[in-house]
Amino acid sequence: MLDTSLIIRTAREEDLDALVALEHTVAQGLPSREMFVVDERAFYEPLLMQNNGQILLAEYENRIVGAGIVAFPRAKATDNLGKELLFPLSLLERVVHIESVYILPEFRGKKLAQVLTSRNLELAAQYGRDRALSTVWPGNASSMSFLYELGLTVRKLTRKYGGLDRFIMLRTPEKTVSSGESVLIPCLDMDGHRKQLSQGMIGVGLLRHDEAKHDQPGNLAFSVIYRKVNGDLSCGSSANA
Ligand SMILES: CC(C)(COP(=O)(O)OP(=O)(O)OC[C@H]1O[C@@H](n2cnc3c(N)ncnc32)[C@H](O)[C@@H]1OP(=O)(O)O)[C@@H](O)C(=O)NCCC(=O)NCCS
Repeated sequence: MLDTSLIIRTAREEDLDALVALEHTVAQGLPSREMFVVDERAFYEPLLMQNNGQILLAEYENRIVGAGIVAFPRAKATDNLGKELLFPLSLLERVVHIESVYILPEFRGKKLAQVLTSRNLELAAQYGRDRALSTVWPGNASSMSFLYELGLTVRKLTRKYGGLDRFIMLRTPEKTVSSGESVLIPCLDMDGHRKQLSQGMIGVGLLRHDEAKHDQPGNLAFSVIYRKVNGDLSCGSSANA
């Protein structure tokens, strides 16, 4: 349940400096640089001014404490993540990128990331953008956890942002049903992930190891749960790395 004094609102141009400052504050507090790639003002401007996406802010007592950003990539854009999953052109037009979500440490664990992102995805769906894709570092449990809760699953392991390991996670309007035995792969076992994905498995959740503390970002004591997907491997896409 969200604190009633938290306000969720759309960002305006005059919020951008505070937004970038918040992003830097969050990044500086993280234990690993691999977890989170920081964007600058030039990235956000077209999202606001050319309607290429949406930025939602969480505000507490007139202070921005969190943000969720989605982008609507052009079908032919080289960075359209649907290309990673071999989407046909008709589906590339329906892609929405969950670009980024960041919450100040003292406001974490309240499902704020989920609220910001699900509201952003509702808006995207109104624009016909109903294929949600996100990149996530395989060691970022907090991020993967809220994305799983929103219905995204791991479809591919690739390299992004100058060579960083990133999962590609996907949500389609059709419910993804998985079955069979679960296979657990430790989060930083990249070869293990590649093997499962190449065998038609998808990542459907995470299992924290006994020693894991939920409230410590960067805690790597968890495994990704893989299961076999039932039916078509979603909308003409390939899960192979
Ligand atoms: C990832 C992030 C946005 C999640 O935001 P949130 O609003 O706390 O999300 P949720 O409340 O849904 O919690 C998500 C997970 O974080 C864990 N968590 C809870 N409190 C936490 C805290 N104080 N610090 C870190 N993680 C915490 C939760 O246990 C939950 O995992 P679980 O579902 O397995 O229990 C936030 O941790 C964050 O800003 N991280 C740094 C930036 C980042 O990595 N962003 C994602 C990449 S763009």
